[in-house]
Amino acid sequence: MPTILEDYIAKHPGSAQRYQESVAVFPGGVTHDTRYATPFPLFMTHGSGPRKWDVDGNEYVDYVSGHGALLLGHSHPAIAEAVSRQIQRGTHLGASTDEELRWARAIKALMPSIEKLRFHSSGTEATLMAMRLARAYTGKSKVIKLQDHFHGWHDYAMAGSDRSAPGIPQSSLGTMVIVPAGDLPAVEDALAKDNDIAALILEPTGAHYGQLPYDTPNYLKGLRELTAQYGVILIFDEVVTGFRASPGGAQVRYGVSPDLTTMAKIVAGGLPGGAVGGKADIVDMIAHRGDPEWDNSRRVYHPGTFNGNPLSAAAGAAALELIAAEPINQRADEMAARLKAGLNEALGRLEIPGHAHGIASMIHVVLADCDCDRGICTMSHSQIASVTASPAVTAMKRGLQNRGVDIMGRDAFLVSATHSEADIDQTIGVFGETMAAVRAEGLI
Ligand SMILES: Cc1ncc(COP(=O)(O)O)c(C=O)c1O
Repeated sequence: MPTILEDYIAKHPGSAQRYQESVAVFPGGVTHDTRYATPFPLFMTHGSGPRKWDVDGNEYVDYVSGHGALLLGHSHPAIAEAVSRQIQRGTHLGASTDEELRWARAIKALMPSIEKLRFHSSGTEATLMAMRLARAYTGKSKVIKLQDHFHGWHDYAMAGSDRSAPGIPQSSLGTMVIVPAGDLPAVEDALAKDNDIAALILEPTGAHYGQLPYDTPNYLKGLRELTAQYGVILIFDEVVTGFRASPGGAQVRYGVSPDLTTMAKIVAGGLPGGAVGGKADIVDMIAHRGDPEWDNSRRVYHPGTFNGNPLSAAAGAAALELIAAEPINQRADEMAARLKAGLNEALGRLEIPGHAHGIASMIHVVLADCDCDRGICTMSHSQIASVTASPAVTAMKRGLQNRGVDIMGRDAFLVSATHSEADIDQTIGVFGETMAAVRAEGLI
């Protein structure tokens, strides 16, 4: 019997060979930190619906789902058609287009808090702009961020994460106030102590799309009240949860309306794209004004070559219009519920410490017992981080790949509306076999 690692090496010779070249070209041999893997990452060729294929011809049920962008699966016919049509008509017209208007209308129809918006090319740009808008609007310099919440990789977003921050000036980090997640008195304390706070930004379903304890929605409602009371702008980072936690994101799911929302991933239908939107008077800090009374030095500058580009606009509008018209979220959520139950059942049957939790179509597996309600987990970030870094989880990820299932990072299943009951049941079967193999190697 080969080990899980030997099996991985034997099944993926084409990826191993390509890695020789990629490691000489790309740092770590990859183009995104999350794709880093030992002894080498997998190279994929194409995808369709819930499945994708690697360079050795192996087929996978895919739960990376384009890092969460593909709620409609790979190459959805409506999106493929919209993008093909647009590519014939030009990928960059260097001008305003009907496509960007249609895209904006589709967003506004799903998220009522969005009065006005601007497009970007990524979620990192969106959170950077949201913080800048808040600072410019309030004339204050600091932003409250919750410990371990992820908002991309710009300087301010890296504050309060467990990653080291070389290359980031202390002066940038010093404008961020980090508070523990889920702790309303800590937020109130920070607001009461410091009158230089412009905004509070958070992932509304908890860090890393739902891993960390909150009393949702009470916590969100509490934040809404506190920020309103102190005149601080509340920013929901809905880069992952937007159009996934519900068609209108976490804000509609929990009935709490932020001042600004950042979006990316699903918003652009699987192409690069992002947006920041919300209250018109805040977003209008970017607006050009003829008003002689207006001090133009207060205006927030916002260029960006690919802002609102017609390809992303066509894909984004097609995706969001489908989400509005069809039970896309319902379908993905039902499949995710089936998966979560099956993963928990398999762990229980095998008597392996662990559980699957998550909301909507976002599922996390943690190889540790927990008494949470299998929605948003109550384990601490450090507990989850240490379990997720274990050799057992490395073996789980490789073992799943050996059997044709690819997960996001080391622990997450992002389910799309194209995953069928058969895909889910196959995954649950593969998960059981994989975990038995991980245990047989003495890692659990
Ligand atoms: C909550 C959240 N915010 C922001 C980002 C950054 O988005 P992007 O990778 O498009 O820059 C991510 C990326 O995963 C995210 O999960």
